[in-house]
Formats: sequence, structure tokens, C-alpha cells
Amino acid sequence: MQTADFARSAKASASVFPVPANMYAEKVVSVTHYTDRLFSFRVTRPHSFRFRSGEFVMIGLPNAERPVFRAYSIASPAWDDELEFFSIKVPDGPLTSHLQKIVAGDTVLLRQKATGTLVLDALTPGKRLYMISTGTGIAPFASLIRDPETYEKFGQIVLTHTCRDVAELEYGAGLYRQSVEDPLIGELTNGRLTYYASTTRGKFPRMGRITALIEEGRLFTDIGAAPFDPAGDRVMICGSMAMLHDVKALVEKAGFTEGSHSQPADFVVERAFVG
Ligand code: A2P
Repeated sequence: MQTADFARSAKASASVFPVPANMYAEKVVSVTHYTDRLFSFRVTRPHSFRFRSGEFVMIGLPNAERPVFRAYSIASPAWDDELEFFSIKVPDGPLTSHLQKIVAGDTVLLRQKATGTLVLDALTPGKRLYMISTGTGIAPFASLIRDPETYEKFGQIVLTHTCRDVAELEYGAGLYRQSVEDPLIGELTNGRLTYYASTTRGKFPRMGRITALIEEGRLFTDIGAAPFDPAGDRVMICGSMAMLHDVKALVEKAGFTEGSHSQPADFVVERAFVG
């Protein structure tokens, strides 16, 4: 971004604080509230901002001289003109207590570099890609299921999303509908993208933690697949620390090896944003 753009953006934020160096100051385009715990928002995308689907970026607000920044997975695909994020609302969270109040036209700060492990390059080729998520952990997969590269690399995609209550599934359910109905992405997802949702507290046709559904074998019988097999399956995991720990233990028990950019392998993990 040019200096003049920075000055314009900073002014538009109506903030008394200058935009810190190496930041983008972007406009909020829209905000959707799902529950008292979850909301999503879209911001304008700087022309020079590049990322790979599945990566995260640091986000802050221009509300202090030294703004609080937190890592947010980018929920929109790499080809999108805007950037989308899916966030928790923590009443006394240093960032989200303020972020949950943003409206269209407000300014959000973005650090200029995106990074993260939930990228296709960190996995070796396989037939079926499982994306296992809880809560806001669905965000990086919201990006990846809308990226054509995912379908070039894998024949079948299984997106699992588990939340406490039914209303918390709404973002993911809408995303799945949109991906299937979109004329371009729909052609790719057709018959290849499985959406597998469950709740653990609110009444829903499928209930149970994803760890239990995996251990009991219900996930596999429900989707008509064999149990996890590192020969053809690849797994991406995103959720709370406890969830990462438990799902990781299950895939490791099944013989999977953790991958990274420098050493692609069978599965990758990333913590969903908290606070
Ligand atoms: P539960 O209701 O049994 O705690 P949260 O909103 O707290 O991040 O939780 C999102 C979902 O992740 C909830 O359905 C929650 O189930 C589930 N969950 C929490 N801990 C684990 C874990 N260790 N393994 C699998 N799922 C978990």
C-alpha cells in the first residue's frame, strides 16, 4: 500500500491513532451475527495482499496506540476480492470484546503477511482429504473448500464441523450450501464434498464429539468410507487445544505422520483463534 493510501485509510478509520507501519487498514464490508458467541465479517482486500487458502493473518483494531493483534484464519478463498473471517465473541477478550461491535464502514488492521500450516502444500498427495473442525476452527476450511486447487489434489473432501449448539452450525451449513450452489465451485464440489455436522449439547440429528464419532466408527459408516488409512487419507485439524490434542492422538494411532511446508506428510493441525 502506498503512503497516500495509508493516510487515507487512517483518516477513514476516524481513529486518533496512526496506522502502524507494515499494516493494511481495510474497510469492513459486512458483518453477520450468528449467536451471542459467533459472528463473521468481510473486509476489503488490499491489492498487494497474497495468501494461500487455509492461512491466517494477524488482525487488530485502530483503537489504541499499540493495538492488540490476534491470529485469524482467512475464511475466504485466495481468489476472492474480499477477505472473510469467522470469529468468537469473548465478553472480556482483549480483541473480540471490541471487534464484535464493528459495523460496515469501520476500519480493521491487518498485518501484511499471511502464514499457517493448514495448507495443501504441507500434505503429500492422497485420495480423500478430511477437514476436521470444531467451533471457529471451520474458518480455514471455509477457504479451502472454495479453492479449485483442493479439488485438483484430492478426489473426495470431507468437512466435519462440531459445535455445542445447532445455531453455531449455521455459518458452516450456509457455506456448504453456497459452495454447492455456486456455478463455478459447484461444478468442483459436485459429489465430491461431504459436509458432516454434529452437536454436543443442543438437540440435532447427529450428536457427539468428533473424537467419539471417529472412535466409534460412526463417521466412516455414515459417509461410506473405510476407517482412517494413511495410504490414501489426509487430515487437516482445526479447533481448541484440547480438540487438537485428542484428534491428533487418534490419527497418530492410525499411523499418520504430521506434515509441514518443509516436510509434507499425512496430517496438519492448527489452533483455532481464541479471545
Ligand atoms: P463439548 O460440548 O462436549 O465441550 P467450544 O465452543 O468450547 O470450542 O467447543 C466446540 C466443540 O468442540 C463442542 O462441540 C465441544 O464439545 C467440542 N470439544 C471440546 N473439547 C473437545 C475435545 N477434546 N475433543 C473433541 N471435541 C471437543
